[in-house]
Amino acid sequence: MAKATIILDPAFVVGKTDPRLFGSFVEHLGRCVYGGIFEPGHPTADSEGFRQDVLELVRELGVTVIRYPGGNFVSGYNWEDGVGPVDRRPRRRELAWFSTESNAFGTNEFMRWCAKAGLEPMMAVNLGTRGADEARALLEYCNVESGTSLSDLRHEHGHPAPHGVKLWCLGNEMDAPWQIGAKTAREYGTLARETAKLMRWLDPGIELVACGSSSRSMATFAEWERVVLEETFDVVEYISLHGYFSKHGDRSRDFMAEADWVGRYIDEIVAVADSVAARRRSPKRIMLSFDEWNVWYRTRDRATRTKPGWPEAPAILEELYTMEDALVFGAALLTLINRCHRVKAACVAQLVNVIGLIMTETGGRCWRQPIFYPFQHAAQWARGTVLDMRLTCGTFVAGDGEHFPDLVSAAVLAEDGKNLALFCVNRNFDQAIDTEINLRGFELGNLLESHVMTSDDLNATNTAEYPQRVRPEKGHAATVREGTWQLSVPPASWSVFRFECRST
Ligand code: AHR
Repeated sequence: MAKATIILDPAFVVGKTDPRLFGSFVEHLGRCVYGGIFEPGHPTADSEGFRQDVLELVRELGVTVIRYPGGNFVSGYNWEDGVGPVDRRPRRRELAWFSTESNAFGTNEFMRWCAKAGLEPMMAVNLGTRGADEARALLEYCNVESGTSLSDLRHEHGHPAPHGVKLWCLGNEMDAPWQIGAKTAREYGTLARETAKLMRWLDPGIELVACGSSSRSMATFAEWERVVLEETFDVVEYISLHGYFSKHGDRSRDFMAEADWVGRYIDEIVAVADSVAARRRSPKRIMLSFDEWNVWYRTRDRATRTKPGWPEAPAILEELYTMEDALVFGAALLTLINRCHRVKAACVAQLVNVIGLIMTETGGRCWRQPIFYPFQHAAQWARGTVLDMRLTCGTFVAGDGEHFPDLVSAAVLAEDGKNLALFCVNRNFDQAIDTEINLRGFELGNLLESHVMTSDDLNATNTAEYPQRVRPEKGHAATVREGTWQLSVPPASWSVFRFECRST
């Protein structure tokens, strides 16, 4: 058996997890909205067409904030198309995903769905084909109480109470050649600054996210962030990061290591953001919104990720996740948690069907993907103070010979200080890791519960027929030896151990 040691001391902390770290994303893409969260006529649909079976899973998942309406979609979207009487809403050819958009679901439907799910909305504005004025208009429509033409229009549309949206994304992936209305960093930075200025004047209570690079592999990565933040530093709170993890061929080792670049990516953007602050001698710190992240490679190929004939809600990007994917997903999630002092929001892309945590059949069943569970555990128990752990363990070799730790872990002390959640991903496929927890300044009491998810087949997945093939089991793999907690973390597993604790 392999061995690891974790040292924990409540005097050494990373920071508190922001509830927005456990967010997801709903885009007008494929069957995420239509056939996903919204399907009038579905046996479980309520009077507004919201699928109750999906809503139940969303509540169970514990997701806190949802980014909407895109993604690439937002860069060609006219928000006015999606409000007012449904029978008068225009159908359009949608150029981000080459689909037909009916506009049957729009801003007000989204807000009502969020209210039913108990979620905070995070809205993105179109800075691709549109600009500051339309963003200002959408904000007026959403957030102004009454007495202006657009707030009164919202009243007319049946929504007297303002939606009170706090968190806004200034466009989406504006550096990307595939983006409708892509821009240079300077062009985007200037537009984002002016848009932010107007939006803030209208509603000083909002928080704004400037677009970072669409991925760490873009040629303009880091330089893009520098220029954009030079333009927007005074008017935004966050810069965005987007990251998707891929497996190439059967290279499982390299795939496991994908999660590690999340940490590097964050550290690099923090360095860029702080260098912009330093040049201004500013104490302000730009925080990070990792507002698209997930495993995504099976359905990513640009040539096959759209369907011909301008279909409505086509089944595209419907990645079926495996146990192996859940390990990479879990390790990335723990990396975000361990950087919670700077990552204040994060959204798994996406919520339903499209590279989703939840899958549905249009007209039929829904089920949880394997990645659902690490997210659910973290959303529930990674609330509180993240301890700055010291971890020693074995390593594996990936990429061009670099060593990566077998064990990825995070320790979170609950708000009331009375219990501790220890999350682990064992990336050693052959051996369990016997992990000793070395505590300084506090004691662990009883083990409250432990959950372990693993499978003898790393390619195992969940389907409508077999929805529970990959799921966590209650585990008991923790023992006290000479006063020290020892955890046995099974090979290729995701696990969480929850303990009572007290300070000494
Ligand atoms: O989440 C799928 C797509 O990935 C989003 O629309 C886009 O922002 C990113 O490239």
